[in-house]
Amino acid sequence: MRTPVIAGNWKMNTTVGEAVALVRAMRAELDKVSNVEKVLCPPFVSLAPVGELIKGSSIKLGAQNLYFAEKGAYTGEVSALMLAGLCELVIIGHSERRQYFGETGEVVNKKVAAALGVGLKPILCIGEKLAENEAGKTEEVVSGQLKSSLAGIASLDGLIVAYEPVWAIGTGRAATGEQANETIAFIRRNISGLYDDKVAREIRILYGGSVTAANVAEFMPQPEIDGALVGGASLKAAEFLSIVTQTSAMG
Ligand code: 13P
Repeated sequence: MRTPVIAGNWKMNTTVGEAVALVRAMRAELDKVSNVEKVLCPPFVSLAPVGELIKGSSIKLGAQNLYFAEKGAYTGEVSALMLAGLCELVIIGHSERRQYFGETGEVVNKKVAAALGVGLKPILCIGEKLAENEAGKTEEVVSGQLKSSLAGIASLDGLIVAYEPVWAIGTGRAATGEQANETIAFIRRNISGLYDDKVAREIRILYGGSVTAANVAEFMPQPEIDGALVGGASLKAAEFLSIVTQTSAMG
């Protein structure tokens, strides 16, 4: 059985003070929820303080990005090794990075390799844009992203995939449970082709895009969906907690 994952991607929100307050507001209750892997992904500057607050709890910490070079003259960037001392997971290839920061499949691939190289677990994001969806190209896009992101990666070592259709991110227009399940099943078959059946059976594949406390029950009972990558709703303690609690109850 695959343990479901609920990961909160805070994106570029919260000052350090706000991040600390948000964690304080949900830490104790979140810690108690079993059968769900709970992950918080605050901005870089809040990783250390949030890490301190959740030390000794069942809550895990993730970053939102990294740079693939080992070290050196890359002003403003953060390496995989720097993160490895702070957190366990890292979001890679989010559509916002692809869209606003020009991340290509090749860059995403280097970042995945850098993360795995230091034992960080990537949350690899893939997903089609609205026009691609409307043109019936969803499968072509996600299989292409998967193939380029994982090129030359021999072992996935805890890597998680997040299927995030771009048209569903921050729009309030989530995919239906059935749509998400179908594409995630397709992604799993692709992983079986790239690796083998065992890897495909064990890998967790999340849905992301306008997941809230009000619609999470639509996704979690779907057999292929192993959790959610939550944006906006992860910034509200009670709502995030509700998403996690409902997921646990449905497991
Ligand atoms: P929203 O939940 O705000 O739509 O964001 C989803 C997302 O991009 C998570 O990575």
